[in-house]
Amino acid sequence: MRTSFPFVNRVRRVVCKPQQSRVISPVAAPWQHLRVVALRHTSTRPCQDSGSSYVTTPIFYVNASPHLGHLYSAVIADCFHRYKLLRAYDSKFATGTDEHGLKIQQAAEAAAKDPLTFCTNVSGRFRHLFNSCNISYTDYIRTTEPRHRRAVQHFWSLLWDKGLIYKGSYEGWYSTQDESFLMPTQVADALDSSGKEVKVSLESGHKVEWMKEENYMFRLSTFRLPLLDWLRGNPRAVQPERFHQAVVQWLQEDLPDLSVSRQRSRLQWGIPVPGDPEQTIYVWLDALVNYLTVAGYPGGHDRWDGVHHVIGKDILKFHAIYWPSFLLGAGLPLPKAIHVHSHWTVGGKKMSKSLGNVVDPLERSRTFTTDGLRYFLLRQGVPDSDCDYTEDKVLKLLNAELADSLGGLLNRCTAPALNPGQVYTRFCSQSFPREPGGQAAAEDYRMLSSVRSLPAAVEQHFESMHVYKALEAISACVRQTNGFVQRHAPWKLDRTDVKEQRWLDTVIHVSLECLRVYGTLLQPVVPEISDKLLRKLGVAKTARSWADINFLPRFQGLDCPREGRALGSDTGVLFGRLERQNVDSHKPKKNKKASKL
Ligand code: ME8
Ligand code: MG
Repeated sequence: MRTSFPFVNRVRRVVCKPQQSRVISPVAAPWQHLRVVALRHTSTRPCQDSGSSYVTTPIFYVNASPHLGHLYSAVIADCFHRYKLLRAYDSKFATGTDEHGLKIQQAAEAAAKDPLTFCTNVSGRFRHLFNSCNISYTDYIRTTEPRHRRAVQHFWSLLWDKGLIYKGSYEGWYSTQDESFLMPTQVADALDSSGKEVKVSLESGHKVEWMKEENYMFRLSTFRLPLLDWLRGNPRAVQPERFHQAVVQWLQEDLPDLSVSRQRSRLQWGIPVPGDPEQTIYVWLDALVNYLTVAGYPGGHDRWDGVHHVIGKDILKFHAIYWPSFLLGAGLPLPKAIHVHSHWTVGGKKMSKSLGNVVDPLERSRTFTTDGLRYFLLRQGVPDSDCDYTEDKVLKLLNAELADSLGGLLNRCTAPALNPGQVYTRFCSQSFPREPGGQAAAEDYRMLSSVRSLPAAVEQHFESMHVYKALEAISACVRQTNGFVQRHAPWKLDRTDVKEQRWLDTVIHVSLECLRVYGTLLQPVVPEISDKLLRKLGVAKTARSWADINFLPRFQGLDCPREGRALGSDTGVLFGRLERQNVDSHKPKKNKKASKL
């Protein structure tokens, strides 16, 4: 993982002795059975697809307005959810906001607002963005809701009853920005923008402070080996592979117990520790439990098994170490997979308010259209490495692939000049026989075989959330179909000749069938464009699922229910070409109102 230091001018490693002192509670050691618990829950019991699915995004901090990176996580999860629905799964998709903790408390103070009013306002902005961008969540959770407080307090009490939480004292580094405790080896010396000496987190570059207080500790150290067993037994638990390796690497090192509460005097904005009102539950324990709250915890959370978490690389430690440990401790099943993605940068730099390079996704979706922005993010975003956002890239990609390639193909096949009857034309098996011999060329057969194998390829990429690979494959097929039309130039055929007319109809029929496959497969990525395309082809809403794909049945000698049917009456363009001057006038500006609170 690449480390970035947004405001660090000089970095030097701090060498100091371990700073954690722990008071081990005198209770018996009920956690000693954990290895067994862990093995029970992490056995290689296959998580069979049971017809239900549950996918989550991180819940986002409400200290600032949403930016492009937040939308990216939501779009990945939305695509997965929509894909599962097309596969007839009963799919659940949760997103929401993380509203407790010191960082939010301080942000509300700085804005001179009462914390709940402050949180409600910013949480509403995230929700508004997601609604505008067709993020079809089935639950939007806020950690300030009573249902969540109940879940967290229940979860805490369970861990406490199992002897996994004990009263201790913590002394060490804390980053409020990351809401994270750090080992001395994870901290460096640096100069801030005003030249002052500060300590920063080596990973995030955020400032850290020394903290010493009495609080509750979670026996995280007990889980080091069970976690390694889990990861070794489930090589796809953390994806992509490089992030799996990173977690295994971290677990080779010391895993100290974790402070899971703060003194109420310092942190009021959070859920109180059950039975101890002087302490507030650590925001990460609080936040991670949101995934259970949505599943109905406590009680009725039968759908907990087999969750897919979508996260950014910045919060890997919390999801791949803390979370599975908490779950193992509570005797609950572990996530099916943690899908990690890298970050969007702008001009090669991390997005930050101080640099004035924060990309406002709501504004961008107005310029590029919602589907345009979704397509760009999913086509260009690669989970393994950071991607740089530039307006030029968006413009070129959308014009080439959505306007010209896909839109152009649809235009050609539905143009009144070529298709005066505005119907799903007929396929002629003499013109395009199963064995080469008619008017079709060898390349046409290759094209058919590419399109036939496309759904299986796309399925595999959607399942692993490598959406860019799915889009690459679809895009390659669209190019092949355009090549097919170009090769046979149906506009040059003589319509007074019966044979040529049959061939023309066949070329259009094959192209419409290809377009129907592309429209169906693209629904999770660009729902509006796909709807427009399928409407134009006259494909009913009830015939757009994965099971309906059944490409070109006439080629197999089967009937095609679409043959001879009227096309849709929509005459608009599928995706209007973007003009550079319209895009340039919306360049992100420093301190724009939309990116500030
Ligand atoms: O960490 N590129 O919230 P957060 C891509 N509340 N994705 C990005 C990104 C970027 N530049 N910046 C942020 C928190 N993200 C906690 C999570 S979960 C129980 C609690 C995305 O508001 C990415 O998914 O800081 C990252 O992990 C998340 O936003 C962090 O959002
Ligand atoms: Mg963050």
